[in-house]
Amino acid sequence: MAENLVWHETTIKKEERQKRNGHRSCILWFTGLSGAGKSTLANALEHRLFEQGTKSYILDGDNVRLGLNKGLGFSDDDRKENIRRIGEVAKLFVDSGTVVCTAFISPFKEDRDRVRELVEEGEFIEVYVRCSLEACEQRDPKGLYKKARSGEIPAFTGISSPYEEPEAPEIVVDSDKQTVEESVETILAYLKEKNIL
Ligand code: PPS
Repeated sequence: MAENLVWHETTIKKEERQKRNGHRSCILWFTGLSGAGKSTLANALEHRLFEQGTKSYILDGDNVRLGLNKGLGFSDDDRKENIRRIGEVAKLFVDSGTVVCTAFISPFKEDRDRVRELVEEGEFIEVYVRCSLEACEQRDPKGLYKKARSGEIPAFTGISSPYEEPEAPEIVVDSDKQTVEESVETILAYLKEKNIL
């Protein structure tokens, strides 16, 4: 299907965009169970980035599934395709000079690693939002665990579908032990240490 297609280089380069923005671009890939706090953390972080003038954007699970990835469900294959498309979109954001925060369960290591390979070394920052299943289930902000336990939602991550923990994430935050503010500080410190900001 990809025959007769030729990649067009843009004349303005990523480096020029980054220079103008005054910071480098990257993907902050938040992964974790449903209810672990991925979106909450991504939003809190983005507020700080926005305040300091960093070009940033959030790609969030439910929102992307309501639009770009409408039609994809939660089978292993659909989740894989979901992450593949998001990875490609995130790569475009990196090229645009943006710090893009993605908040998806992304339960499979292989799919996350494939996104890592799409961008240059150091541009993919895996943020494991670690939280015990018990705590996520206790929070159950959308009532989905209850439905999953009763069998109303099949293939629910952590209950009837697997979650593969990151083996070597760049950042780990324990959302059942740290406050949102503490986690945001941890991520900001990492970005500064790596000279992204
Ligand atoms: S995935 O696995 O990365 O493709 O999932 P993602 O795109 O992040 O979408 C997760 C949100 O979809 C809702 N939802 C489910 N999650 C897991 N398993 C099943 N079966 C399911 N059905 C619906 C749920 O609101 C997830 O959002 P978060 O914010 O993670 O709770």
